[in-house]
Amino acid sequence: MLQRAERHLLRSRYIHNGREHINFCSNDYLNLATHPAIKNALIKGAQEFGLGSTSSPVVSGYSRAHRLLEETFAKFLNRERALLFNSGYHANLGVLTTFARRNSVIIADKLCHASLIDGIVLSRANYYRYHHNNLAHAESLLNKIMGQEKLLVTESVFSMQGSISNIKKLADIANRYQAMLIVDDAHGVGVLGEQGGGICDYYQLSQHAVPCLITPLGKALGSMGAIVSGANDVIEELLQSARTYHYSTALPPVICFATVTAIKIIQEESWRRKKLQHLITFFNHEAKIRSLPLVSHDATPIKSILVGENKTTLELQHYLMQFGYFVSCIRPPTVPINTARLRISLNCAHEEKQIIHLLDLIHNYDKRKN
Ligand SMILES: Cc1ncc(COP(=O)(O)O)c(C=O)c1O
Repeated sequence: MLQRAERHLLRSRYIHNGREHINFCSNDYLNLATHPAIKNALIKGAQEFGLGSTSSPVVSGYSRAHRLLEETFAKFLNRERALLFNSGYHANLGVLTTFARRNSVIIADKLCHASLIDGIVLSRANYYRYHHNNLAHAESLLNKIMGQEKLLVTESVFSMQGSISNIKKLADIANRYQAMLIVDDAHGVGVLGEQGGGICDYYQLSQHAVPCLITPLGKALGSMGAIVSGANDVIEELLQSARTYHYSTALPPVICFATVTAIKIIQEESWRRKKLQHLITFFNHEAKIRSLPLVSHDATPIKSILVGENKTTLELQHYLMQFGYFVSCIRPPTVPINTARLRISLNCAHEEKQIIHLLDLIHNYDKRKN
């Protein structure tokens, strides 16, 4: 514990009430968590379903609301079938332990989310990690595998970098090497694509190109849980085999019921996505003017500014708090050593003037000491 404190690695929790600070940490990119229509759906759903689901989905925890969410989601993404897990963490563990066997080989991006890595380790398959978004490296690793089942694993939008992975090219590579492509679209859904359908909408990729798509619902959908979608046989295999699906109480039906409304809003209120895209472009431009070291300039709402040292990053976070800005401070092991960063996440309710003030504070932070 002491060692952690000395290395400035202690984790803390803050209660954010929305009054004292402007929240630049949340993954609620479209500001849906508190949308009036979703609040109404929660009230209606609570009256109809009550609170808990009372058991695993394969016992009696699967309700009409769960089925409605799965069907609505599959239709939204134009995929054959969908299966709802309790969280992205459950989904990633479930997918990897189902489709990777001990003699399989997994090739995964070096910066994949911890839940994907834990799923890979739990599967006991052999695995290799390619340099972040380096598709030539991924291909060279696949090229070395002879006669074993292969899986290619990545995020669509990297949660700590904000970079977009070229899933179109990865799908092509996966196809050539007969590897199963598994994509975690936590930070793509709602944000990317003409309809807000995420990475497959963005690149116009079919279910055939991305056979296993994992969509956590706790980000742009403002909800919780995660959906895995794909062809009927892929989903059936998961339903039959995923231990994280079987051995955990199903999500409350009221959550499923309200999440259906969130999907509807994503489709109907496209202004949210457009406003967010505008703020992303604006942020990139303003950060460039100030020569701030953005980790990625890709068109995503995750804007990480590299600081390096844990201590300085924490101090900078506390400094911004004093001015009413709540920004997350990301340190190892979430990111590699010496790459601590401020992770700023934009949402469609932010204003340009808030972004300018925030970036000015960061830009002038060092000068302040002189
Ligand atoms: C890329 C990615 N995958 C999975 C998860 C886990 O999702 P959940 O919070 O629903 O467990 C997260 C959230 O931290 C994430 O960023």
